[in-house]
Amino acid sequence: VLLTLALMLFGYLLGSIPFGLLLTRTAGLGDIRGIGSGNIGATNVLRTGRKGLAAATLLLDGLKGAAAVLIVQAVASYELALLAGLAAVLGHLFPVWLKFKGGKGVATGLGVLIAASWPIGTAACAVWLIVAGVARFSSLAALAAFAFAPLAALVVENFSLVKLAFTIAVLVFVRHQANIRRLIAGTEPRIGQKKAGAA
Ligand code: G3P
Repeated sequence: VLLTLALMLFGYLLGSIPFGLLLTRTAGLGDIRGIGSGNIGATNVLRTGRKGLAAATLLLDGLKGAAAVLIVQAVASYELALLAGLAAVLGHLFPVWLKFKGGKGVATGLGVLIAASWPIGTAACAVWLIVAGVARFSSLAALAAFAFAPLAALVVENFSLVKLAFTIAVLVFVRHQANIRRLIAGTEPRIGQKKAGAA
């Protein structure tokens, strides 16, 4: 139990590093939480117009999730690695450093899925890319990717992954409530747009 808690704490702390906030602040852009949707993720960093910073946020937020899984898998077990991955997503969503107000878990969740199951993680990324490419909504792409992941894990009968992917999906959907409302109302900005309807 102690080992499990320690490894989950490790995952949580890794996940709680708010790369979007740190990178935009370091670049002198001020507080990302005062820009666009106010989220600390790559989609919102893109609204600053800095594509490189957005890509770095996506990569680093993804890597911290993947690292939590891979490191714990190397020192403990696959089951504990999945728990550490979940803890990393929780760290990103509820970072102690930001008074527990973090991101929406898309990049970190995808990083966790890729590390937990390379085929399912990359397939979820492909779903994200296809929906984003067609609909141009980052949030809708994320909802589709995380709805897909637990079903895909079910098909390949990796039941520990089903549980993990389903839990992350629930967290991602809960964190996208405002996005879902905007999608329904037709006011969700498309990728790269500052506001709905803006060029
Ligand atoms: O990665 C989060 C994305 O799905 C939505 O972000 O900033 O448009 O709320 P945002």
